[in-house]
Amino acid sequence: MAIDFKDVLAEKRALIWKEYQKYLPGKSKPIEANDKVGNYKEEDEFFWKSVSDYPKRQGKYIRGSLILLVCEALGVSQENAALTGAAMQASEDWLLVHDDFEDGSMQRRGGKTLHRIFGTNQTINAGDALQIIMWKMLRNNEKILGVEKTFRVMDEFEKMLMRTSLGQSVEIKWIEENKLDLSDEDLMFVIGGKTVYYSIAGPLRLGGIIAGLNEKQLDLMYELGVPLGRCFQIKDDLLDLTSDFEGQKKQVGNDIFEGKRTVMLGHLLRTAKGEDLERVKTILAKGREEKTEDEVKFIIDKMKEYGSLDYAADKAASLKEQALKVFDEKLGFLDKEPGRSKLKAGIDFILERKK
Ligand code: IPE
Ligand code: IPE
Ligand code: MG
Ligand code: MG
Ligand code: MG
Repeated sequence: MAIDFKDVLAEKRALIWKEYQKYLPGKSKPIEANDKVGNYKEEDEFFWKSVSDYPKRQGKYIRGSLILLVCEALGVSQENAALTGAAMQASEDWLLVHDDFEDGSMQRRGGKTLHRIFGTNQTINAGDALQIIMWKMLRNNEKILGVEKTFRVMDEFEKMLMRTSLGQSVEIKWIEENKLDLSDEDLMFVIGGKTVYYSIAGPLRLGGIIAGLNEKQLDLMYELGVPLGRCFQIKDDLLDLTSDFEGQKKQVGNDIFEGKRTVMLGHLLRTAKGEDLERVKTILAKGREEKTEDEVKFIIDKMKEYGSLDYAADKAASLKEQALKVFDEKLGFLDKEPGRSKLKAGIDFILERKK
């Protein structure tokens, strides 16, 4: 029977959320006997509301699910990985809290972005709290994984998240400078930074670390993660331009409003001619608020006309094929069923998903 990867995500999400919830109590504990936190109920509730808003919206849970799936495909108890999965999801949540503010985004997971609900200052603080929760979870792995693996997992988080932060910085810098000469290599550097490691390659390696893979095998997990992670981000960018996110009514062309440096934009800037190119550049030079819907639509239409969307779609498809090849030819040690088949279904899902 064909595996529906959405069912796999739902199964893993339940295991991860069970752990995650424990760290979102909705109420702060006094630090010591004289701590009067209990006297400031309203403030405390407000704080937890801001902190738990994105976690409760949940999202797809791809990252944590990959950690659990690798364990499943190696025949190792997923229970051991659920807390790391929760920390992975907490990292996604705090990154997105900050990312939506940085990008000036309007919608997230079917609702208003956090800064539009709580304002920018509370939003920065809520993201900070979620990051603290993430480190606390990782520290608490000690009882489950022992000291050595706990530190290895933490090292992986540090490496993964520093690379993400670099990627975010490069993207913001190029948007702010309105950089227009963008090679695919440049764009892969941004994608590699902001997305690939923390979204796919890191989670695959983390599952491997928990399950006890050796360094060579972990390198092979990374080899799968790179093309798959690139495919994941290009698909995200395609959805931004073409999808209604299964009825969630996200603003179409949000990335163009935000000035995102995407593979399709790079292609358009390299191929558009004459007046078309001049108009694209004029629109890109404007800030988010100054751009009109018609101008965004103009860029999307030109991306269609010059084959930029097809170019990106072809790239995503060939990256997925590369990923499948690594999976089939080099990752035979992920051999326990149904874990292996579920992971393979995940590779398809990353390209075929509708949101
Ligand atoms: C959004 O990731 C951020 C990117 C790197 C594209 P997801 O599409 O996995 O978002 P959620 O967590 O499922 O909402
Ligand atoms: C988000 O990238 C990457 C991180 C959160 C680190 P994007 O800004 O491209 O993701 P979306 O499109 O807002 O989900
Ligand atoms: Mg964003
Ligand atoms: Mg961003
Ligand atoms: Mg996006």
